Formats: sequence, structure tokens, C-alpha cells
Amino acid sequence: MELRTARLRLRQWRAADRQPFARLNADPRVMTYFPSSLSKEESDTLADRIERHIEQHGWGLWAVEIPGVAPFAGFVGLATPRFDAHFTPCTEIGWRLGQEFWGHGYATEAAGAALVFGFHQLGLDQVVSFTAEMNHPSRRVMERIGMSHDSLDDFDHPGLPVGHALRRHVLYRKSRTG
Ligand SMILES: CC(C)(COP(=O)(O)OP(=O)(O)OC[C@H]1O[C@@H](n2cnc3c(N)ncnc32)[C@H](O)[C@@H]1OP(=O)(O)O)[C@@H](O)C(=O)NCCC(=O)NCCS
Repeated sequence: MELRTARLRLRQWRAADRQPFARLNADPRVMTYFPSSLSKEESDTLADRIERHIEQHGWGLWAVEIPGVAPFAGFVGLATPRFDAHFTPCTEIGWRLGQEFWGHGYATEAAGAALVFGFHQLGLDQVVSFTAEMNHPSRRVMERIGMSHDSLDDFDHPGLPVGHALRRHVLYRKSRTG
């Protein structure tokens, strides 16, 4: 399943995406709010996992293509968190674009289409998104697509050690009906 928006194509991954994906995963600015940047091998493993999920389910963290601009800009889409928290099981929406594609509204445009897909094709009642408390660019995307934040939902990410600067996370939610 592929999604189209005015400027973007959200599609299954291709072999040619691996190189630009490794480049963005190695970029410290892109990875500011993650515990570390990724090696080429880690990046490929992640791409394999994402690609397999789309193959099996027909949806996932789609590769974002900007026709006429770039064959691969990053990913935007839906995923199922693999850790336990007060809001799981759930479906999350997430994004990661190369730095050269920031500041154009691409993440917001793609995320809007992914949300509509989640609510109308998958029939989800709710979609969540979470990020490190200090990741304001990502929080702004959540706010622009109409998600809301209640500080009572904030949580410590179980994948990060106690005392880690990124451990505190904010949770945003959006319901199909609201
Ligand atoms: C999170 C991330 C995708 C946000 O990127 P972004 O460029 O800020 O978000 P968008 O693509 O929605 O673009 C919005 C910006 O483009 C601007 N813009 C320019 N032209 C625009 C247009 N035609 N339409 C809409 N917005 C436009 C907006 O004003 C906004 O800028 P502002 O935030 O300074 O006000 C990006 O920072 C990223 O990939 N970060 C690294 C990975 C990451 O942290 N992911 C989240 C982990 S949970």
C-alpha cells in the first residue's frame, strides 16, 4: 500500500534507500534526540525490519520520496512500539528525515496522510506519538497534525537507563473522533 500527498510519495523501501538512510542515521544532528547515531550495519538492520513489516502488513514506516526533488528523504509512518508502558499496546506515528529536508513541511504533510490511513484504512480508534521531552521539532509536528499532550501521560522510556538525559518522554494522542 502506497500513499500520495500533494508533494510526496510514501512507499515501500528499495535497495537504493539504504545508502541515504545510513547517511542520515550517521548524522549527529538528525540523531540529537536518540541515544546514539547508527552504524551502516545498524541502519541496514533497521531498514530491513521496517521493509519486512510493510511487506507483511501493507503499512508501516514508509520511505518518503519527494518526486522531482529526492528519491529518498527519510521515513514517516505507523509502527507498533515493542516495549511495555501505560499506553501500550498501541499504534504510534513517527518520522525521521534527512536534515536537508527539514523546514519544508514535509514531515507534517506525510504524517497527516499516515494518520488518515491509520484511522480510515486500519480503523484505529487512537494513534499516539512520543519523543524525548526536549525534542521540540518533533513535538511541533505532533501539534501541527492535531495531537494533544497531557503531562499526566509523560513517562520514562524503559529502553534508556535511569539518569539518561533523554529518558523522560512526552506522549501525544489523537483519536479518530476528536
Ligand atoms: C522531526 C522532524 C521530522 C521535523 O522536521 P521539520 O522540518 O521541523 O518539520 P516539517 O517537515 O513538518 O516542517 C515544518 C517546518 O517547515 C516550515 N515550512 C516551510 N515551508 C512549508 C510548507 N510549504 N508547508 C508547511 N510548512 C512549511 C514550517 O514553518 C515549519 O518550520 P518551524 O517548525 O520552524 O515553524 C525533523 O526534525 C527530524 O527528522 N528530526 C530527526 C529525527 C527525530 O527526532 N524524529 C522524531 C523522533 S520521535
